[in-house]
Amino acid sequence: MEPETTILAIETSCDETSAAVVVNGTEVRSNIISSQIEIHRRFGGVVPEIASRNHMENLIPVVEEALGTAKVDFKDLDAVAVTYGPGLVGALLVGLSYAKSLAYVLGKPLIGVHHLVGHMYAGFLEYPNLPLPAICLVVSGGHTSLIHIKSHTERSILGATRDDAAGEAFDKVARVLGLSYPGGPSLEKLARRGNPEAINFPRAWLEEGSFDFSFSGLKSAVINYLHHAKQVSKEVNQADVAASFQAATVEVLVTKTINAVQKIGAKSILVVGGVAANGLLRQELKSTGEKIGLPVFYPQPVLCTDNAAMVGCAAYYQYQRREFAPLSLNAIPNLPLY
Ligand code: KG4
Ligand code: ZN
Repeated sequence: MEPETTILAIETSCDETSAAVVVNGTEVRSNIISSQIEIHRRFGGVVPEIASRNHMENLIPVVEEALGTAKVDFKDLDAVAVTYGPGLVGALLVGLSYAKSLAYVLGKPLIGVHHLVGHMYAGFLEYPNLPLPAICLVVSGGHTSLIHIKSHTERSILGATRDDAAGEAFDKVARVLGLSYPGGPSLEKLARRGNPEAINFPRAWLEEGSFDFSFSGLKSAVINYLHHAKQVSKEVNQADVAASFQAATVEVLVTKTINAVQKIGAKSILVVGGVAANGLLRQELKSTGEKIGLPVFYPQPVLCTDNAAMVGCAAYYQYQRREFAPLSLNAIPNLPLY
């Protein structure tokens, strides 16, 4: 029998303080997530300094809970993994400094994980035999990217957002509609009562063949529509606005994902990130996937949003390749995908 590899993973790139114990890349012994959503809600978005300060307060209790729940002691750990970018620099530094100190004291390897690679591995955590090559759509509040996963060691970005991330657009549109933060879930709920064809909001396809995204024009179109209606005292059907905005966003995400699949001859589609919780996106991708005979994988919602278990899974594959980081590892807010 293979010896067990037990990894403590830490994620503090944005507003979730998370620690997880993952064994052999698939067995999640614990995945503790302390969300700061309530703290940032009154500001309508994540305030970087407040996020860092909260990670500072929460991290050690969260790690203790992760070890306690997993019934694992520091001495049982084979490695310490941590997200080192991309993300908010002050938030990343809290998790990174802690992980480095711990690895140093324990004399165990440190594994630096790219946040988007972490999101991707939420897929491998639940579906280790996911057919490759795959197209991975990462859709969150911070990212909208299409990744070509060739193998565990080879991947490339086919496209990414040039301005707002899809989740960010959901949050901003929700805000102008007077919905609470984070806007995605409340906007989706409102959209259920609306007509998605009521307003023809613009879809940004960009240049022919481009896999990049742009959502700022769509967001501005919604804001302009609402302003104009207010100026002429026209009553607005908020549910129709929400449904039409959601339909425009989802149409672009689905079309570009399917185009990417066709371009590289993918054998599966993986969707991760907070927006992967969106019902319309799931339904549209699933039915389009079925039509072309391609399986679509969605990790369970808790693994789609920011969490340390996904970091622990990515780290396991890096551990097997002995991809360890030096103790001089720094936080890189704009870390490119390698
Ligand atoms: O992955 P995540 O937890 O954090 C980031 O790394 O950004 O994603 C959060 C984002 C927020 O923008 C939130 O509004 C969006 O995911 N979101 C949704 C839904 N649930 C969460 N967007 C659309 N529909 C949803 N049901
Ligand atoms: Zn994320």
